[in-house]
Amino acid sequence: MRSLLLVGAALIAAPVLAQEARPTVNLKAPVKTFGRVSFDGRSLMIDGKRTPIWAAEFHPYRLPSPDLWRDVLQKLKASGFNTVTFYFDWGYHSPKQGELDFTGIRDMERAITMAGEEGLYVITRVGPYVNAELARGGFPGWLNNQRARARTDDPEYLKAADEWLAAIDGIVARHQINDGKGPVILHQIENELSQTSPAHRRYMDHLYAVTRSHGITVPIFHNDPGRNGNWAPDGSPVPGVVHGPVDMYAFDGYPGGTCTAQGKIARGNGAPDWGYYGIGGAKGGASASPDTPGFMAEIGGGWFDYWGSDGIYACNAGQTGPGYGRLFYGTNFVNGIGLQSIYMGYGGTSWGWLPAPVVFTSYDYGAAIAEDRSLREKALALKPIGGTLAALPEIAAMVPADKLTPSSDAIRLYHNRSPETDARLILAAHQPGHLTQDTSFTFAADLPDGHYQMPQIRLNGYDAKWIVAGANVAEQRLVYTTSQIQTARDGLLLLIGRSAEAGRTVLRYASKPAVKAPDGVAVSWDASRGDLTLDYTHGALSTVEISGGGRPALTLLLGDDAAGGACWDADGVLACGPALLRHARAKGGILALTGDTVAASPLRVWSKQTRITWNGAPVAMKPAAGGSLEAIAPIPGPAPIALPALNNWRMAEGTPEATPTFDDSAWQAIDHRADASQSQKPAGQPTLTMDPYGFHEGDVWYRAHFVGSADAGRLSLTYGAGGAGMVQVFLDGRLIGQQDLPAAMPRPITTGNITVPMPDAARVAGDHVLSVMVRNNGHNWDLTAMDEHKEGRGLIAASLEPLTGPAFAVPLNWRIQGRAGGEDFADRMRGTPNNGGQYGERMGWHLPAFDDHAWRATGTTLPQGAAGTNWYRTHVMLNVPRGQDATIGLAFGDTARPRSAAQYRVLIFVNGWNMGQFIAHVGPQRVFPIPEGILNHHGANTIALAVTSDGAPANAPENVRLVTMQNRRGGLEVAPIAAPASLAPTH
Ligand code: GAL
Repeated sequence: MRSLLLVGAALIAAPVLAQEARPTVNLKAPVKTFGRVSFDGRSLMIDGKRTPIWAAEFHPYRLPSPDLWRDVLQKLKASGFNTVTFYFDWGYHSPKQGELDFTGIRDMERAITMAGEEGLYVITRVGPYVNAELARGGFPGWLNNQRARARTDDPEYLKAADEWLAAIDGIVARHQINDGKGPVILHQIENELSQTSPAHRRYMDHLYAVTRSHGITVPIFHNDPGRNGNWAPDGSPVPGVVHGPVDMYAFDGYPGGTCTAQGKIARGNGAPDWGYYGIGGAKGGASASPDTPGFMAEIGGGWFDYWGSDGIYACNAGQTGPGYGRLFYGTNFVNGIGLQSIYMGYGGTSWGWLPAPVVFTSYDYGAAIAEDRSLREKALALKPIGGTLAALPEIAAMVPADKLTPSSDAIRLYHNRSPETDARLILAAHQPGHLTQDTSFTFAADLPDGHYQMPQIRLNGYDAKWIVAGANVAEQRLVYTTSQIQTARDGLLLLIGRSAEAGRTVLRYASKPAVKAPDGVAVSWDASRGDLTLDYTHGALSTVEISGGGRPALTLLLGDDAAGGACWDADGVLACGPALLRHARAKGGILALTGDTVAASPLRVWSKQTRITWNGAPVAMKPAAGGSLEAIAPIPGPAPIALPALNNWRMAEGTPEATPTFDDSAWQAIDHRADASQSQKPAGQPTLTMDPYGFHEGDVWYRAHFVGSADAGRLSLTYGAGGAGMVQVFLDGRLIGQQDLPAAMPRPITTGNITVPMPDAARVAGDHVLSVMVRNNGHNWDLTAMDEHKEGRGLIAASLEPLTGPAFAVPLNWRIQGRAGGEDFADRMRGTPNNGGQYGERMGWHLPAFDDHAWRATGTTLPQGAAGTNWYRTHVMLNVPRGQDATIGLAFGDTARPRSAAQYRVLIFVNGWNMGQFIAHVGPQRVFPIPEGILNHHGANTIALAVTSDGAPANAPENVRLVTMQNRRGGLEVAPIAAPASLAPTH
């Protein structure tokens, strides 16, 4: 199921690098310097210091509540990342050519600034094309009317792209590390451009040149789909690569194996060697560019989900869980890929009309941070990776060392060393890599501090062990440890491992140190070597105190994954107990800790300050083991949230366009205007597709009058509607045809044909009206750079004809209506994704201030209405306890099942914001989180649902309720998002 659409590399023929052409480790690459950022063949350097880039992707536009961006950024930082990667979505900012909007939820400068404030570096990826499962891959709707081939050097396209790049690059430029002001360290142009013709090379040349002219001074890279060697820096000596105007080569990969559409793990894959250990002993994927360090601009940390699946996010999260992380990210590091960005760190929500046809509203992705912003178990397992990298940044620049031989054939050992410090990273993985068995093994190694025989090490399941040796950490000499470093700082070392597994740590001293160790930690001293050996079993946190021996004192904390998961590092302070530590800021003799609890929690802190506050409240502490302080009483957890039932519903019919008397005189007349659609219209037919009329998002209506005649036998329509889109056809107010595009995974069906037999009424002389509604569930992405996004949407062809032809026998003069105002829509605050052309949207029925008191009151139920679209509104007061961070969602029907027997679909508006689409019979998403800021947690809210069906009683909407998706005590203050409460209606 890893599809043709997904990993572009699988689809696109590209030169496969000849194996023998792969160079070996390149220690001689010259250092290239771009201000404070530089690199050689082995690693990135910041201010000359070798720095692993351990990044996670986050799309601020998938969380339309800017105060919560900081929550996600703090959680990424707390999970051990040092960098966040942002894609930017051109279409999100550009409703119309010549207009770019960076206000409110679109304030990307704020996102970059926040990341810097939270201590993260930033990688910016500005496109113009980004893919990212966005409608049009991030292109604006109006670009669909441009005949110039996108992603080439056609001047018309370049002019459009330059408008965007000047604006976004201008923002990024102000926040580069090079002026000493900002966090931006690397900058991507284009994304997965797999066409490599001269026109595409000239396009890339243009992008590079304008990017520099916009003041971007950090290294520029491109993201190669897969491992093809496309757009390796000019000068790369590797035969077969396609050279490009970039400073660094980067590539992506989603190697983790698959979940089926039923959400079952099929089989995991082993982690590939895309670097030093690749075929030929050289840099596999990274081999395209031996003079630049291994760089994965995306490494799969989950996957997206499709209309019509059974819901695979939980499976994706498991498949890319804790063991996967240690195995795959670890294998990348030992392969010399010292820059890695996990896609996604937080996926979020493709709200409104953001999603491409391949995805539905939730972009949870099975990421480390779930869509409701809670931390998954695997986020806790990422902390030790970040901790190990922080303790031993030279990991980013290590090279293969002597081959080690394990005692078991089922084990593979990677052995790397730092040419500068000789420190080692030994990664133990299963062989073959997909094995999930429980293997015990040992090996002997010549390490910097001598020859050592390892104890029995256990590798249980889909996992890897990160064994560090010969390193100076926490002011100690670490001979080796079979546990993993989570935190190392002066005087403090936290090592973790799988629960109930044995661990050994060996430290070197000039003379025998004093050791205070609890039962269960066996301590031995080898005077001849000066080795202090600790043997233990990983479990609840235990504290060992070591002093003397010619070194500063050490508190050594040993624990299992759960113990490590409860410990957090922030601002140089370690705290264990709560569910999250955001910051630890010392001021005026007080250490102010901020963070979250999910239940009443212990709190243990290692800090010089003795006066502690937790989220502003003083906490009485007492001294505890290992120089720590412990809260005398637990710090409080959250109070439960009482959510009101949704009642007082009111309803109104929302399909007046279907009725013969509807006045469409203000609608645009369909004509023969030129368009840029990739969908051929039949010769002589007018231009029906929606884009040329300025309608790009959501629903679109067509109406045509005709004179009844014997020729009116059937109506044949070709339409474009995106993934799981639909069409409804009415004659004189009556639904006569409806079609859903079938859900098909992984490549959605995006266009359809429907032939509707005309009822006898159509053959009765006189005026008749056809009304057609097309739900456009997104334009295609343009993965292949062949203008895929320009596939037609709305009607493509329409013919009213006799049952036996000829086509177009009955002339139809169509009119079209979509989003009110087209590209000049009024609700600029909610912006491009929010609205399509439903009648209720044009009338402002989705908006909070609309007066619905004249609507029919239906109490607690949503009764079925007439065929077409019916609107239901209710108002609800919320009172989430102050100081709590909850995610409240709207749930539809039986959430235990991916889909219903009832066939209907719902556009979900909360306080005027389009928070997604529920399609009952397609699924799988039934719970829709509404971020705070959009949802008022402390007052009134308006919910408006636009429910579309054929009106059959069996297809009535199911029960709708509010649910608490996560609830924590802590969190951040979230300001409400300003947006209009009402707008002038548009017929
Ligand atoms: C990559 C692409 C991303 C995203 C990802 C799948 O190939 O660069 O934009 O589409 O696949 O989620």
